[in-house]
Amino acid sequence: MTGVGNRRNLRINLDRLLGRLEELGRVGALEGGGVCRLALTDEDRRGRDLVVGWMKELGLSLSIDRIGNVVGVRAGTEDGLPVVAGSHIDTVATGGIYDGCLGVLAGLEAVAVLNEAGIKTQRPLAVAFFTNEEGARFAPDMMGSAVSQGVLDLDEALAVSGIDDTIVADDLAAIGYVGEARAGDFRAHCYVELHVEQGPVLDKAGETIGAVTGVQGIYWTEFKITGTSNHAGTTPMQNRHDAGYVAASVAVQAREIAEREGGNQVANAGFLRLHPGLVNVVAGEATVTIDFRNTDVKVLKRATEELIEFAERAAAEEGCEIAVHPHARFDPVEFDPGMVALVEKTARGAGHSVRRMHSGAGHDAQMFAANCPTAMIFVPSEHGVSHNITEHTAPEDIRAGADVLLQVLLEKAGEV
Ligand code: HGY
Ligand code: MN
Ligand code: MN
Repeated sequence: MTGVGNRRNLRINLDRLLGRLEELGRVGALEGGGVCRLALTDEDRRGRDLVVGWMKELGLSLSIDRIGNVVGVRAGTEDGLPVVAGSHIDTVATGGIYDGCLGVLAGLEAVAVLNEAGIKTQRPLAVAFFTNEEGARFAPDMMGSAVSQGVLDLDEALAVSGIDDTIVADDLAAIGYVGEARAGDFRAHCYVELHVEQGPVLDKAGETIGAVTGVQGIYWTEFKITGTSNHAGTTPMQNRHDAGYVAASVAVQAREIAEREGGNQVANAGFLRLHPGLVNVVAGEATVTIDFRNTDVKVLKRATEELIEFAERAAAEEGCEIAVHPHARFDPVEFDPGMVALVEKTARGAGHSVRRMHSGAGHDAQMFAANCPTAMIFVPSEHGVSHNITEHTAPEDIRAGADVLLQVLLEKAGEV
């Protein structure tokens, strides 16, 4: 029995946590630094195998569900829904070693500390990583946690075709992570996610902890345009049906809508593919996917509708066909005020500077928010950079965030 006083003195082992972050970061490591472990690739499999090995070493009982979500549970003295620390270990193609991985590995670090201290908790404690949080290969993002929490239908997710024209079900089977556990009814007593901020707020303010109040809305829309490939030199301009021109106009219009709306409206045209994609051929086909986000769902919806109308008009004027696919429609979510206050109080109690803030990035936590009390803990991203191989968070900030996570988990799981 350690007693509350001693419990407060529990600290994570920073070297062990940093060592695991670096070891996982070596799976799919890129030449010039950073990491590429796109969901359901062989690199993702190797990363999963490494983390599952650590979960087994910690004595967690593992369950893998039908979309490959992995949950390791540390038994409590009582049964019941677990307190869950989760995030993801898949990355974008130019990822850093902290995005997602920090939350999963800090959860494992909390388990290691409790094991070493011989501390039992009333409630079970679980550490989880969810399939395809990034959504970069297969839309939508947060796919695994959305299925796990009943936000997205399992069969619909398994049938998704990705940017490489492969199917989720096939690639999931290929990496050997089709689990037995039902997907869709996993529930938590509460959910806490530690994550790097991926934006400039904490770094600029010189503050250590973000007590995240919620996540902004995320609307992804794919536009597939079909025109006529033709000779770039001989085809008179008025005879062209240039799919590439329409796709490029949609990308520019998305940006212009965001600049005009201002506020928290942001836009990105991160995926733009022309076919045949050759300098001297007018593109016969083009695909552009626009990422719109906003804390104000009314503006987000209006901006999306306006862009779709623009795209359909631009295609018609160019004599092209267009197919519009909503790839993600996640409205803004708010986290449980009690959980947010607990993060804030815990951070302050440990002597850290802390601010309340919303998240610009999507996270698995937003899929739990409707089902259980949910909170996130942010730590600074240096220069606000993420989805970039130079993503970095200082070791002392990692320690602060992981210590806050440990204390919040202990508080919610109830020490025996
Ligand atoms: O897109 C996002 O915000 C997250 O990184 N999946
Ligand atoms: Mn992430
Ligand atoms: Mn990410």
